[in-house]
Amino acid sequence: MASFNVYFILVALFVMSGAVIATEEADIIKKYDCENETKMGQYCIMEIFTSIFKIGDVTDKCCGELMVLGKICHAALVKRTLQLPQFKNMEESKIVAKSIQIWNKCAVVTKSVSPSPSP
Ligand SMILES: *[C@@H]1O[C@H](CO)[C@@H](O)[C@H](O)[C@H]1NC(C)=O
Repeated sequence: MASFNVYFILVALFVMSGAVIATEEADIIKKYDCENETKMGQYCIMEIFTSIFKIGDVTDKCCGELMVLGKICHAALVKRTLQLPQFKNMEESKIVAKSIQIWNKCAVVTKSVSPSPSP
């Protein structure tokens, strides 16, 4: 049955990628409850992810959520993503630099909360 085979392949991929992931990041993510949706919603996860690994800006709203998530979680989630087979080919130093850059930019944005909305 085709559906069974697809399911089997998915499980095999999941198990293999799980084995590759270093436990250090996984421990941090668990300890700090980094994947809790009350800290950062699915929308902002995607926005920040795209901004780091592809291209694009992070909105003030998602910058705010990033600050709630915290620097430790931010770094751990980026590092864990870099260990996934799909992202292995990316330059780690470049991605880490980008993630720090985004963090710093968001820290400035959220600190200077001015009531004047940008057009
Ligand atoms: C997420 O965080 C909230 C508030 O700290 C907590 O009550 C909730 O149990 C957490 N959810 C999970 C899935 O850990």
